Amino acid sequence: MGNCLCRLESSDYRVSSNAKPDSTREENKAMKQRNDNSRLPTNPEEVENLLLRRDSAANPLIVFSYDELKIITANFRPDRVLGGGGFGSVYKGFISEELRQGLPTLPVAVKVHDGDNSHQGHREWLAEVIFLGQLSHPNLVKLIGYCCEDEHRVLIYEFMARGSVENNLFSKILLPLPWSIRMKIAFGAAKGLAFLHEAEKPVIYRDFKTSNILLDLDYNAKLSDFGLAKDGPVGDESHVSTRIMGTYGYAAPEYIMTGHLTPRSDVYSFGVVLLELLTGRKSLDKLRPAREQNLADWALPLLKEKKKLLNIIDPRLEGDYPIKGVHKAAMLAYHCLNRNPKARPLMRDIVDSLEPLQAHNEIPIQKTLTIISEVAEADLRKGKMQNH
Ligand SMILES: Nc1ncnc2c1ncn2[C@@H]1O[C@H](COP(=O)(O)OP(=O)(O)O)[C@@H](O)[C@H]1O
Ligand SMILES: [Mg+2]
Repeated sequence: MGNCLCRLESSDYRVSSNAKPDSTREENKAMKQRNDNSRLPTNPEEVENLLLRRDSAANPLIVFSYDELKIITANFRPDRVLGGGGFGSVYKGFISEELRQGLPTLPVAVKVHDGDNSHQGHREWLAEVIFLGQLSHPNLVKLIGYCCEDEHRVLIYEFMARGSVENNLFSKILLPLPWSIRMKIAFGAAKGLAFLHEAEKPVIYRDFKTSNILLDLDYNAKLSDFGLAKDGPVGDESHVSTRIMGTYGYAAPEYIMTGHLTPRSDVYSFGVVLLELLTGRKSLDKLRPAREQNLADWALPLLKEKKKLLNIIDPRLEGDYPIKGVHKAAMLAYHCLNRNPKARPLMRDIVDSLEPLQAHNEIPIQKTLTIISEVAEADLRKGKMQNH
């Protein structure tokens, strides 16, 4: 039953192990779950029947053939790859009018699960189809359709023009994200999680991290990658017992220890992402000195100390932030990271706390960034001229 640590991407350390069910009832439940898993639908008809049973009217999905996907992605051209790691690659594609009558014309992202037929890969694909087929919200990425043909398991999403928060926050090429955009991202992602937790059948997202939060042109944040999402506890149950899956550096300590999953596990991960936005540091960074490698462990004691706090704020912001706002965001992260899950705030309260930290300025964000890059270019030109 040992912990399996799979390295997926440079900054990604996924946790995966079997939780110890703590009672006979839970053992039975786990057994039932295992049996259910071995009966996962394996052909398009079964998938469609399952979706009909799960009342997925919120987001009607288009079923694509594999040949159509080849057209959409120009034969899965390597230069169309947007990302990937877990169970395959994500490609940029385009649905054009000629493809099939009645389809919308739009850019899409196409996530191909590797054809290794792994049970976990299939399960994650199915979880995304089920959850994103049922849920619709401005802060969740829209699933447009899927393909389930022979061994192919593919998901087709709306294309998110600015990619993941991870790519934006830790990029060495892009301009640093200004404070107001960081707060906008935290707000949007919090609203997405609050929606999941408050759904009629609550959902635990389970893999909240910067690579799973995507951004549109206006930096609206949307949660994507629902492969590990789980139905939340119902009735008088306090938690659901699961195999421990997630990502080191983001997963809540009690979840790693026991496999007991609650919405408060997502709140912990939210705290880690908020810390990443504040500090510009990665949740786990093996290149840093030992005591700084785990961001949450290192930063937690510093968050409450007003003087020390400013020393850990992302230096790339060059002090361009409201000090009060920084303190408030830091205290919020502090509460999310409480070791006692019950002491963590609810996602709804987090949304309310982030609302006053939003910049209500008149200049649209895109324009702000254009201005910033124009100033940067002018500086560059000035620098070049001075060098001549
Ligand atoms: N809809 C999308 N639009 C743009 N980029 C995307 C989209 N979906 C995924 N990506 C890119 O692909 C990466 C991996 O996607 P994800 O769904 O998280 O797959 P994985 O299961 O490999 O983690 C994301 O971090 C992002 O960079
Ligand atoms: Mg992911």
